[in-house]
Amino acid sequence: MEGARRPSLFFLLLVLQPGGCNEMEVAAIAEESVQLQPVKLPEPWTGITWKVTLDSAETYRIVTFNKVEPPDLGSSPHFINRVTFHPESLSLQIDPVKKSDSGLYTLLIDIGGGREDITKFRVSVFDRVRQPNLTVLSAHAELGQCNVTLSCSVPGADRVTYGWSRGTSQIPSDRDHQLPGNQSLLLVVINANSSDVFYRCNASNRVSWDADTVDVKSLCDSPATGFASSPASYCQVKGILLLVVLGALVTAIVMVHILTRDKERLD
Ligand SMILES: *[C@@H]1O[C@H](CO)[C@@H](O)[C@H](O)[C@H]1NC(C)=O
Ligand SMILES: *[C@@H]1O[C@H](CO)[C@@H](O)[C@H](O)[C@H]1NC(C)=O
Ligand SMILES: *[C@@H]1O[C@H](CO)[C@@H](O)[C@H](O)[C@H]1NC(C)=O
Ligand SMILES: *[C@@H]1O[C@H](CO)[C@@H](O)[C@H](O)[C@H]1NC(C)=O
Ligand SMILES: *[C@@H]1O[C@H](CO)[C@@H](O)[C@H](O)[C@H]1NC(C)=O
Repeated sequence: MEGARRPSLFFLLLVLQPGGCNEMEVAAIAEESVQLQPVKLPEPWTGITWKVTLDSAETYRIVTFNKVEPPDLGSSPHFINRVTFHPESLSLQIDPVKKSDSGLYTLLIDIGGGREDITKFRVSVFDRVRQPNLTVLSAHAELGQCNVTLSCSVPGADRVTYGWSRGTSQIPSDRDHQLPGNQSLLLVVINANSSDVFYRCNASNRVSWDADTVDVKSLCDSPATGFASSPASYCQVKGILLLVVLGALVTAIVMVHILTRDKERLD
């Protein structure tokens, strides 16, 4: 009996806990607009307050509203002329949002009897990722293989993750192969006969991404790295050998001819 009752009590606690405080994750793009909106509004309510604790630890009361008077948009210098309160949905809009606006935003709704309904928004503001610059740091070719070091960098990057893939064309396709690695540097070895030699770097953060592509084969094929020139030099060697053999043959034939003529003259 005891054993059967305990799990149900534990279950009840689990269900009750999240009800006390909802926290929503919001990822926003810097210099754009963000709107913080509670999923459902409690009824009835008598007053609300929006407040924030920024990541810098500064705290502000942003709005108070009691249905009767017009909303009081505080006067915090941090948000001056950037916040709008929508009374019908109780939502808070920040436009344009700045990276320094990242923090924990709280909507307190007074539901009477000294009780409050609390909704929290964990807001993180990211820069939009700009086009990465994919460059080849080094390329060494030898025996039909080419070792390449690729470097992907994003101007002004902050909290950016790199993803790499390989494909057969400049244009991304579903058939591209995803490669392991999430760093800005990638080391690859390609064979002389590879056809999927377009390497793509995808720089992303939680709100945006952009990509750049490089054709690695053309670098390996350039004379400096010797990727294509090693078979060519083999051909050259073969050609030189053939010339030497031909030369020797011609000399031998001429010699034989002269010798036989001399022999005939002597006879
Ligand atoms: C890309 O990176 C290379 C090497 O780091 C640099 O020379 C080049 O100027 C960069 N290009 C752009 C558009 O940033
Ligand atoms: C390529 O790298 C491998 C090790 O990853 C090394 O054994 C090989 O010698 C390198 N080849 C060239 C041409 O640099
Ligand atoms: C990058 O890859 C390493 C190892 O594969 C992993 O431990 C790490 O969490 C990854 N980092 C990101 C930001 O994905
Ligand atoms: C490419 O060449 C490598 C050796 O250089 C060989 O192992 C591989 O099978 C070849 N692949 C194709 C598709 O020809
Ligand atoms: C780049 O990465 C992002 C985030 O992982 C993904 O949503 C997007 O589809 C990727 N783009 C390409 C072209 O692979």
